[in-house]
Amino acid sequence: ATATATHGGSFTRLESGSGVFDADLVLTIAEDDADPQAPSSLAAAPHAASVDHTISGDHAISGRGNASTARNGVVATDGVVDGRDTTGEEDDESFRVSREDGAVVVEAACDRGLLYGFFHVVRLGEAAFSGPDLVERHAPATALRMLDHWDNVAVHEVMGQVERGYSGGSIFYDHGRVRTDLSRVEAYARLLASTGVNRVAINNVNVHAREARLLTDDLPHVARIAAAFRPWGIRVHLSVSFASPITLGGLGTSDPLDPAVARWWREAADRVWAEIPDFGGFVVKADSEGQPGPFAYGRDHADGANMLAEAVAPHGGLVHWRAFVYDHRQDWRDRSTDRARAAHDHFAPLDGRFAENVIVQVKYGPMDFQVREPVSPVIAAMPDTRVALELQVTQEYTGQQKHAVYLGRQWSEVLTFDFAGPDGDRAALPPTSVAGIVARSGGIVAVSNVGDDEFWTGHPLAQANLYAYGRLAWNPAADPTALLDEWIALTFPGAPADVVHTLHEVLDESWETYERYTSPLGVGFMVRPGHHYGPDVDGYEYTPWGTYHFADRDGIGVDRTVATGTGYAGLYPQPWASVYESLETCPDELLLFFHHVPYTHVLHSGKTVIQHIYDTHFDGVERVERFAAAWDGVAAALSDDGGHTGPGHAPRPGDTAHAGADTAGADDGRAGPGRTTPAGAGSGARLAARVSERLAEQLRSAIEWRDQVNTYFYRKSGIPDEQGRTIF
Ligand code: GCU
Repeated sequence: ATATATHGGSFTRLESGSGVFDADLVLTIAEDDADPQAPSSLAAAPHAASVDHTISGDHAISGRGNASTARNGVVATDGVVDGRDTTGEEDDESFRVSREDGAVVVEAACDRGLLYGFFHVVRLGEAAFSGPDLVERHAPATALRMLDHWDNVAVHEVMGQVERGYSGGSIFYDHGRVRTDLSRVEAYARLLASTGVNRVAINNVNVHAREARLLTDDLPHVARIAAAFRPWGIRVHLSVSFASPITLGGLGTSDPLDPAVARWWREAADRVWAEIPDFGGFVVKADSEGQPGPFAYGRDHADGANMLAEAVAPHGGLVHWRAFVYDHRQDWRDRSTDRARAAHDHFAPLDGRFAENVIVQVKYGPMDFQVREPVSPVIAAMPDTRVALELQVTQEYTGQQKHAVYLGRQWSEVLTFDFAGPDGDRAALPPTSVAGIVARSGGIVAVSNVGDDEFWTGHPLAQANLYAYGRLAWNPAADPTALLDEWIALTFPGAPADVVHTLHEVLDESWETYERYTSPLGVGFMVRPGHHYGPDVDGYEYTPWGTYHFADRDGIGVDRTVATGTGYAGLYPQPWASVYESLETCPDELLLFFHHVPYTHVLHSGKTVIQHIYDTHFDGVERVERFAAAWDGVAAALSDDGGHTGPGHAPRPGDTAHAGADTAGADDGRAGPGRTTPAGAGSGARLAARVSERLAEQLRSAIEWRDQVNTYFYRKSGIPDEQGRTIF
């Protein structure tokens, strides 16, 4: 494919109503190179591949898609994980950007590489066109960079439309149907492409009756969604119910070893690919939290996954089979069952049995997206299986997009965790870091945080998480703080230094701050059952969900040692098994995940556990107070009272109109939550007001967490705060 980019307009503003870290450039892919058969070809839809934004007048930018130069000339930089070049494994999405005689040239072997290259030029901004001549080469660390939507077609009576969604309704569905107007999906596709995401699953892993039919009756509509994503190099996947042969096919069974069941799935897959030739595959939550699966027939996960894999294999499809399997009907009195062990106990013995197109999708920790968990040992336990890492961009347990919590640092810690130990050999083969393992096999997946909200993500600053996710999936070695600053610069172009500084301050250590005022030292949960927002120390203590802290008058924590506990610590390779087993070496932040200790136990920090709990909870709230005050100081600069950020006005410093909803896809013809804003209020003002409102709620909630947690442990232990602060 050949691409040319035209230019015009001003490059000082990276504008888009979609939230904005995407492109200001015009990209047209020459129609004569279109290959209608190529499933992911941008060229197949040249009209849609043109971006209606601009790069500044004097700059020349051109793209070349010369396969031989690009393939021979492009050497991975981003794509080097643990010292190995991970590119060229599926599609070559790499690109080279150079400047010769003032012209910026993007070279790539395929159209998607060109697209990513152009977005990269946008990220570089003016720097791409000035300074010393430049040659940069980039390639993704992994070919599979995916977002899962937990969207329901119909509004579910308990979970609402988007399960664990905090950004309004679904961008795909409305009134029980696929939306007629998919313009926000088109803007979203572009947004995701600008971060490097290339696959999206469009419905909830809990597949209810209505949603199951996406696979059959709704296929033409799924095809419309796929068409909205296709120009941006993104393939669509569906979550499917393992019971579909019964519920949709009228068979008496969904036994994976029954030939009629296998035939039903083959025919279903054939119909999907006939309608959507570049369809990605199926996501399956089986035998987990009430979802149907192979256990009912005495079969195991490999039997179930492989049967589906065979159905999709002729089409090059994938099966993402989730490892989030545990007993959610546990008796809290039963101390021998440990939910943390469950995924490992179920899946590790099946290593080597999964078909080549099955990807076992593993949550980053053994429990459930907590603010702090050890990395799941399953990731290292299946060397002969394709394993994907699953992260959660939507902030289910991290403040539900009411709290400003930038998760880039958490994900970076997970991705760079080395199973060979803190000093593991980065060039080891096979790779031993989380990023190294998953990049070679199953890639990286996360649950999306986007909805039909005015600011797309509820909390406008939660957009930083979506951005950082895509960029880290492309390059897991990227510095998360640098990515945050990149997002701030692209999202608030020309903002005054104090605004930029405040955004950085509010977000940079917000993950650690959230951890400080919520559940301590890796123990997890302590949230309100059901909706998972706000504190409730004993909320899950006597429930069947397997998430306990075991606090009594003497101490707290879960003994997961091999010597005296559940043995979970022994599921890690050395040195971690020993590191976690021993009180002397277990890191403070995970102490209560692995050990039950007295409140007077002294941490490596020199503090007792109880004093650590008090100190972090007071400090966490003080930090939020500082964030809120800092934001108050700059909110006015972001407001458009002076008329400088409203639609139609020329951009000025502090202009954040791009983060509003005034353009690109927000107008889907229904009243979304964000659309009640009084007419006339500019989007900069609305953004500032939304952030202020959320920070006020974060502060209220943090105080509630502090007081409930401190009071609970003071009452349990009877040990007063050394500093005599107020505990109730
Ligand atoms: C969590 C979450 C559920 C979700 C589940 C999953 O338990 O609370 O809403 O369905 O994870 O990942 O499948």
